[in-house]
Amino acid sequence: MRKQIAAANWKMNLNFQQADKLINEIMGADIKIKENQLTIFAVPYPYLSMSKGVVGDVQNYKVAAQNCYQKISGAYTGEVSVEMLHSMGIYYCIIGHSERREYFNESNATLAEKINLCLANEITPIFCCGEPLSVREAGKQDEYVGVQLKESLFHLSAEQIKNIIVAYEPIWAIGTGKTATTEQAQEMHQYLRSVLAVQYGNDIANEISILYGGSVKAGNAKEIFSCPDVDGGLVGGASLVAHDFIEIIKALK
Ligand code: PGA
Repeated sequence: MRKQIAAANWKMNLNFQQADKLINEIMGADIKIKENQLTIFAVPYPYLSMSKGVVGDVQNYKVAAQNCYQKISGAYTGEVSVEMLHSMGIYYCIIGHSERREYFNESNATLAEKINLCLANEITPIFCCGEPLSVREAGKQDEYVGVQLKESLFHLSAEQIKNIIVAYEPIWAIGTGKTATTEQAQEMHQYLRSVLAVQYGNDIANEISILYGGSVKAGNAKEIFSCPDVDGGLVGGASLVAHDFIEIIKALK
């Protein structure tokens, strides 16, 4: 049974004290999550160690990085390698968030390199895809997101693809308060799963968690997560408020 996942993406928010308070509040809520559920906190690099300390070895709670660099090591001032993450016990990493694609010019090919390095270092990538508004308005979203998957993931073997989490985040829904309708989310998630099935077969496609991202809130999480092909959410704004993120975790199937 594929995992149902509530992933918090703090982005570049919160100072250290605020971050410490937030994660302690959420972990302190002692939410009993089920065997098939997972909560992930994707935090800024300087907070990885603190977050990992707070989460400890509580079952089905994990800490993730929000990015990594596409080289193994070397003279890349300011960058963070997957080996560094692995050596700190960080086993999840967001790859290809639309903000990285847009502001840091990350291409599908660069993201494929990052994916390879993550997998080689036992780090599960949370691979983000999603179309801008202009593409959605032109009705070309399937094609656009299909290319993102193909160019960054489809060189992987069947064994490797099982270790990927996909997050569909329509750019027009990120931080805008404008959520995709359940029909739009389900339609795209079903499409993504069908593309994965064509490449890797039904059994594998059915095992891959596909998260929805884009203005997931405490008030709409249950409805979005109820779609058969939506396996939880990647949550920005609402993950910065303890009460809201707790409700989102509780909304998992
Ligand atoms: P949002 O962000 O929940 O604030 O829309 C989602 C994301 O960018 O991962």
